[in-house]
Amino acid sequence: VQDGSLIPRFGRARRDPTLAVLEGLHPLKHALRFGADVIEAYTDDPSELARLCARLAPDVARTIAEITRPIGRTAFDELAPLAPSTRVMALARRPRIDLDAVLANAAPAPVVLLENPRDLGNMGACVRVCAAADAAAVITTGSHDPWHPDALRAAAGLHFALPVTRIDSAACVPSGGRPTIALDPAGEPLDPAGLDPRSLLAFGTERHGLSRELLGMADARVRIPMRPGVSSLNLATSVAAALFGWRLAMRAVSSRFPEA
Ligand SMILES: C[S@@+](CC[C@H](N)C(=O)[O-])C[C@H]1O[C@@H](n2cnc3c(N)ncnc32)[C@H](O)[C@@H]1O
Repeated sequence: VQDGSLIPRFGRARRDPTLAVLEGLHPLKHALRFGADVIEAYTDDPSELARLCARLAPDVARTIAEITRPIGRTAFDELAPLAPSTRVMALARRPRIDLDAVLANAAPAPVVLLENPRDLGNMGACVRVCAAADAAAVITTGSHDPWHPDALRAAAGLHFALPVTRIDSAACVPSGGRPTIALDPAGEPLDPAGLDPRSLLAFGTERHGLSRELLGMADARVRIPMRPGVSSLNLATSVAAALFGWRLAMRAVSSRFPEA
């Protein structure tokens, strides 16, 4: 591959709904750890990358060394709007997701629904915390692609740790027998221990919150308590508070979440 031909190739990949552009070592590390099909990877500084891998990703360092090809600095800097300081970029295939099967899964883990999130960094932060809390999936509505490279970067590539997908509208979500719980600052106080572990937890858009349509579909409307005078939490922060409030209240030990 000529260095120059990589620039349009990465440009096209950014718009390709079957591909994921991984900008940096952390997204690549998590992609490999969670079984991604990584097609190709490039660095302009192999020795610095090897040093970082030994420190930050020893479990996948060998694979990264095998799949990563050196290219010139000028070409590398053109592969993304802001080249990552960890000096590696890669392309991977997005996993196929069977939404009906994901929602029907009987495992005690909530699905997180983000209604029309507007900020790609926020979307990535939500995916990251959902992966950490071992949620069953992240579903988004609205125009923004949850697999956008900026969201992948903010999620440190943890999209590969759980199903992440976008649908047209919340009305398209097959319930899979899950109660829909609307997270809303104007709801009833949240009782994390009483939450059905298979709930569909719905969070609203950054500025306007949940739509009337979604509030109308919900089986319950709950709030995370806040000090008087504070209007709301940031979207990703509220996802973290709800999921870890539930996780810590549950205290169930499972092989997938051994520290609970
Ligand atoms: C930045 S907030 C939206 C604020 C919006 N003005 C409102 O009143 O809903 C984004 C989303 O985070 C969730 N959220 C934020 N703070 C919350 C709280 N204290 N309790 C429950 N959900 C909260 C809600 O789902 C909300 O729609």
